[in-house]
Amino acid sequence: MLYFENDYCEGAHPAILQKLTETNFEKVSGYGTDPYCASAREKIRAACGAPDADVWFISGGTQSNAIVIASMLRRWEGVLAASTGHVAAHEAGAIEFTGHKVIGLPHTNGKLDAGTVEDWCSTFYADGNVDHLVFPGMVYISHPSEYGTLYTKAELEALSAVCHKYHMPLFMDGARLGYGLAAEGTNVTLADVARLTDVFYIGGTKVGALCGEAVVFPHGAPAHFMTMVKQQGALLAKGRLLGIQFDVLFTDDLYQTISKNAIETGRKGLFVLHGFAHESGVHRVVQRAAGRAGRQGQVRLLGEVR
Ligand SMILES: Cc1ncc(COP(=O)(O)O)c(C=O)c1O
Repeated sequence: MLYFENDYCEGAHPAILQKLTETNFEKVSGYGTDPYCASAREKIRAACGAPDADVWFISGGTQSNAIVIASMLRRWEGVLAASTGHVAAHEAGAIEFTGHKVIGLPHTNGKLDAGTVEDWCSTFYADGNVDHLVFPGMVYISHPSEYGTLYTKAELEALSAVCHKYHMPLFMDGARLGYGLAAEGTNVTLADVARLTDVFYIGGTKVGALCGEAVVFPHGAPAHFMTMVKQQGALLAKGRLLGIQFDVLFTDDLYQTISKNAIETGRKGLFVLHGFAHESGVHRVVQRAAGRAGRQGQVRLLGEVR
């Protein structure tokens, strides 16, 4: 049976499984204080060109979004996002469950535009009743967006500027960041993401890991971030599980290799990304591609096409 509905149908890249097996009987300390987490953090800082970054490993995307957003917002603030954004539309109210409103804004093909944020914030602060409203405390985007569209460097620069103007951190959900960075024609690099955002994550679950997201705060995490992760039940005792996986993903450019393979496979019409299939028109394209793939043979998301 062939499945084409998403990019997490398979387990993990064999190099990750091998490393987990090799290190299985090593005794290391818990809660992300082990040498593999330390090594992965160093490699991620180097890849991002952000030597002062704080890097934390969290099991899943919804968990990362809820923890990051709740840790950075003050109690009277909400998060601005495209109305189609993952936190707005596909997380069962996980953000609102932390006490923070998701304020949905108009989008263009899934992307949030700096002009839209500027208009919304200037109208907000001009409102005489502002003290009765939820304040904008942060901007959330995902790259690729829910429609599979990509931000350009200029668009990220403009978003970053408007966020600074209104003293809001810019948060990029990178559940599929690898694909955005490997996409043909993009001018956005990992270093750009680290330079232009205040927090982002490097998705592992959808890019070859068994599970796990690396949350990166290029200029440092909020105080007591680890305790907040713990409070939300997301601090893994066996933190090595995530550290080992990201250590492997950031060795010999494996993360880029997996991402490139996905882009090339997708270009051949052999597999499609779940996040690219939300609009009916897009969905039809996706179904056609999946049909073609079914005729052409077996696809391995993590390795070569056979
Ligand atoms: C952009 C984005 N963010 C977050 C998530 C949620 O991730 P998880 O399913 O690990 O909670 C997804 C899931 O597909 C996603 O596409």
